Amino acid sequence: MNILTTATGDFTLTRFPEHPREQLRAWDAADEYLLRHLAESGVELSGTVVALGDRWGALVTALAAHGPTQISDSYLGQQATLANLGRNRGGADGVTLLTTRDTPPARIDVLLVRVPKSLALLEDQLHRLAPALHADTVVVGTGMVTEIHTSTLQLFERLIGPTKTSLAVKKARLIFSTPAPGPARGADPWPLSYALPGDIGVASGRTVVNHAGVFCAERLDIGTRFLLQHLPVRRGPELVADLGCGNGVVGTAAALGNPEAELLFVDESHQAVASAEATFRANLPAGAKATFRAADGLAGTPAGSLDLVLNNPPFHSHQATTDATARRMFLDARAALRPGGELWVVGNRHLGYHVTLRRIFGNAQLVAGNPKFVILRAVKR
Ligand SMILES: C[S@@+](CC[C@H](N)C(=O)[O-])C[C@H]1O[C@@H](n2cnc3c(N)ncnc32)[C@H](O)[C@@H]1O
Repeated sequence: MNILTTATGDFTLTRFPEHPREQLRAWDAADEYLLRHLAESGVELSGTVVALGDRWGALVTALAAHGPTQISDSYLGQQATLANLGRNRGGADGVTLLTTRDTPPARIDVLLVRVPKSLALLEDQLHRLAPALHADTVVVGTGMVTEIHTSTLQLFERLIGPTKTSLAVKKARLIFSTPAPGPARGADPWPLSYALPGDIGVASGRTVVNHAGVFCAERLDIGTRFLLQHLPVRRGPELVADLGCGNGVVGTAAALGNPEAELLFVDESHQAVASAEATFRANLPAGAKATFRAADGLAGTPAGSLDLVLNNPPFHSHQATTDATARRMFLDARAALRPGGELWVVGNRHLGYHVTLRRIFGNAQLVAGNPKFVILRAVKR
């Protein structure tokens, strides 16, 4: 179930974190198709080989002998990559792991692109990498047919050069682009800022900065809006976490409401963490205290150290619909809160978070509700 068979060997691959019950595969037909193409077409994998958007490390694990560079937005994806390299290659030696916010290599000879879910992220990353391509750079993209749209191909065409696609195999497709000399790319439109509406309390009218690919990068999410309208009013020095911070709008509002609070912004997306930092800096005075961390939930946060956790949990995790992440976030929050500390959660009414919170905290109180959303408060006893 978790062994990927390729021309260069068999690899045991897992996602991160590993779910004991929900064993989702750490690669798909798009990864297989790309690896098979590379082996059969005899593409020379020399010079700087970059795997952009490699999800759980299947590509760099299979291609480790070529010293590839992985560029990923996902902290979880890179933790999986490290584990997969360790298990199959004895470690990550020779493989370079970069985030989407790091400076990319100056020259790229082979660019492999696992098409991301977010077209915006693809646009931003191709803008960042295009200057490193040269006339002989081999560019091959891959994705499931459901992920490759006309707009995806137009991006490759506009930002790299002439583009064609392969036949579909097992519902996956390859994309071939030939770098054109200095195409008229225009400027990278990301990051993007927007002004918040006027009915959300302390953060009304403030600016939010969004790097490509973050949750609700072009307008405020209606659940987040509801949470901002009901944020707890608090005073005095305290440590507040914005868990799954996205663009950081929730934590920034908490800091605006209580200037004595110190904030911790956490997200598994590097684009999100960078957005949260930019949003916070754009709205708070220079000395305002905050930490910005790419991590899995509150892992690494000392037990009993937080006074308040604010959370709009994800309910789609890397394509799989699951409440597993929300549950893990609530468990993390309980461990990281001090006795008497509070977790405030906004969620779709139908998700039934009150049941999960009662199970974990022994209590959950409805703070506010509308036909679509509820805001729940759980106290660490
Ligand atoms: C529904 S969005 C909320 C974003 C922001 N707080 C808002 O309300 O606009 C959930 C966020 O959780 C992040 N996330 C998903 N899994 C995570 C994990 N294991 N650890 C930390 N953050 C995670 C996602 O990247 C996403 O930014």
